[in-house]
Amino acid sequence: MTLTLNRDRELALLATTVGGRNPILVELRGGPETGKTTLLSELSELADLQGMARHDGTLPRMLGALVGGAAEHSGLLLTFDDLHLADDPFCELLGQVLRNPLAGQTIFAAAYRPDQASPALFAALDQTRTTRLVIELDGSYAEAR
Ligand SMILES: Nc1ncnc2c1ncn2[C@@H]1O[C@H](COP(=O)(O)OP(=O)(O)O)[C@@H](O)[C@H]1O
Ligand SMILES: [Mg+2]
Repeated sequence: MTLTLNRDRELALLATTVGGRNPILVELRGGPETGKTTLLSELSELADLQGMARHDGTLPRMLGALVGGAAEHSGLLLTFDDLHLADDPFCELLGQVLRNPLAGQTIFAAAYRPDQASPALFAALDQTRTTRLVIELDGSYAEAR
C-alpha cells in the first residue's frame, strides 16, 4: 500500500489567516519532512497575493518591519522556520514581541519540531496575546515515498 499525505486541510486553515484584521500566531508543528517548510512557502505566496509585506524570521528584519509599521499599511507576514534551532536570546526577544499588542494585521508563522524544541521556545510562544492557531502535522513525506 502506498501512503499518501494530503495537506489540503492545513493549507485551507492557513488561508483563513490571510486577509484578517487582527494579529495571529500560527504554529506548524511536526517532525522532519512533515511539510512545514513547504506550508510556510505556500502561506508566503498567499500573503504575496494579498499584497502583504513579508519577511523571513531574522531578528533585524522582524524588528525593522514592525517598527516601520508595515502591518498597519498592508498587513505583515513574519515566517520563522526551524525554530527548534533558535537560541535562548532569540526566543526571549520573540516572546517580548509576541507579548506586546501589535497594530494592524500581523501573522507570525512559526515552524518547528516540538520534540527538539527548547523550553525557551515554548515559553516565548506562550507569551502571545493574539489568537493562536496550532497545526499539528502527522506522518512524514519520507515515509510516504
Ligand atoms: N504536499 C506535498 N506533497 C508531496 N510532497 C511534499 C508535499 N509537501 C512537501 N513535500 C516534500 O516533502 C519533503 C519534506 O517537506 P518539507 O516542507 O521540507 O518538510 P519539513 O520542513 O517539515 O522538514 C520535501 O522533499 C518536499 O518537497
Ligand atoms: Mg523544514
